[in-house]
Amino acid sequence: MDTSNLTIETNNLYLKSIKEEYKNDIFREFTAEITTHMFPKPAKKIEETIEFIKTSIKENKEGSNFQIVILNKQNGDFIGCGGVHHIDRKTPELGIWIKKSAHGNAYGKETITALKKWTDENLDYDYLLYPVAADNYPSRKIPELLGGKIAREYDITNMSGKKLHILEYRIYPTDNYVENKKNI
Ligand SMILES: CC(C)(COP(=O)(O)OP(=O)(O)OC[C@H]1O[C@@H](n2cnc3c(N)ncnc32)[C@H](O)[C@@H]1OP(=O)(O)O)[C@@H](O)C(=O)NCCC(=O)NCCS
Repeated sequence: MDTSNLTIETNNLYLKSIKEEYKNDIFREFTAEITTHMFPKPAKKIEETIEFIKTSIKENKEGSNFQIVILNKQNGDFIGCGGVHHIDRKTPELGIWIKKSAHGNAYGKETITALKKWTDENLDYDYLLYPVAADNYPSRKIPELLGGKIAREYDITNMSGKKLHILEYRIYPTDNYVENKKNI
């Protein structure tokens, strides 16, 4: 499925397939503070951000990724990035980051809940992966809200050289979507 030109509308947000026009927002907002509990590290040069966006657009077109930007529905302001990665596998992986100034509005929860619904409606999958650092409490609340269960734990060293203990939540398809698909 080509996911390079999709828009999902939620109560407060638009989730849109990533585009190069958001390069300055992503470069400015994807900071060391934001990546504290994440595997990737912030870009030093905007060329790195442009490369990330180009690769994501290619993967979206090929149907292996659904990388999005998150925008405020009222004023179009950039809020963050997220996605459903490896959508060509039976166990795709969820990702999310919200810019610092927009924390505290549950935009992360709103985004992941919408991406889960999109996945239920569009993909045939076994479960969604949500790997999160054990001490990233705001993030852990998201898979827990969606009924996710910790199925695996492991340690990694992220690209900034920091050791993280990862809890891998699994979020299963919502039954009625499974039933519907069976009847298609
Ligand atoms: C993870 C993230 C997307 C969550 O954003 P959000 O859903 O908008 O979350 P909010 O800021 O509204 O906070 C969500 C909950 O965490 C709680 N919370 C916030 N900071 C907290 C902290 N330091 N310790 C414990 N709980 C905290 C909030 O009170 C809120 O609780 P509630 O749901 O009971 O009201 C956001 O924190 C973020 O972008 N972090 C940096 C990038 C990152 O770590 N991404 C996830 C990688 S797995």
